[in-house]
Amino acid sequence: MTGVFIAVEGIDGCGKTGFAQALAGHLTQRGKEVVATREPGGSPQGDAIRALILSGADDSWDDRSELLLMTAARIEHVRRTIRPALDAGRWVVCDRFVGSTIAYQGAGRGLPVDFIRMLHARTIGDFFPDLTVVLDLDAGTGLARSRKRLTRDGSGEDRFETLTQEFHARVRQSFLDQAAADRAAHVVIDASRSQDQVIADALAAVDAWLDARG
Ligand code: TYD
Repeated sequence: MTGVFIAVEGIDGCGKTGFAQALAGHLTQRGKEVVATREPGGSPQGDAIRALILSGADDSWDDRSELLLMTAARIEHVRRTIRPALDAGRWVVCDRFVGSTIAYQGAGRGLPVDFIRMLHARTIGDFFPDLTVVLDLDAGTGLARSRKRLTRDGSGEDRFETLTQEFHARVRQSFLDQAAADRAAHVVIDASRSQDQVIADALAAVDAWLDARG
């Protein structure tokens, strides 16, 4: 039996990385073999691309180059990591997937979303997460949280965290629109509360989705 593919999406600072870890632990406790991975990254080739695109000034890549690099990283990630895991019956928890490309390169940067979808279809195919968990947070709170985290752990801001609140507001709206367009494959969680509450609520929503799926 093939495994289940769950993606976690949301704006910077929404808490999705902590939730993705909690979800992987929760599924492991339920007896699943889980592969936890992230984008951009998830394969040696993807990690090399990640290092290229997250560093530097915001204008160090043309928007179209950025889209193609994100897609190249995803092609390698899917064929080397995600598909083999699912085929072996493992469950995959992925911190970001193509929803982020639609939100950041599409709604955020302004590239045409139908082109992004076509690129996905032609390079990766009809391959999407079974479930996407969107941690929904307003752009102002997300940016404030990611700046606080950056000061705390001393790591530098990445190229996306230097972008404006308006940019992140468009990204947030895109995640909500994507969820509204495909309710059966998305759950949206209010991420403005404490991290413990958000994680508990999101795990319960995943369990309910899995139970309904049978
Ligand atoms: P991530 O490591 O999830 O950062 P954070 O934990 O700070 O949210 O992702 C890095 C950045 O890459 C993030 O700002 C969103 C961006 N991104 C895109 O613009 N397009 C994509 O397709 C993906 C996967 C990520």
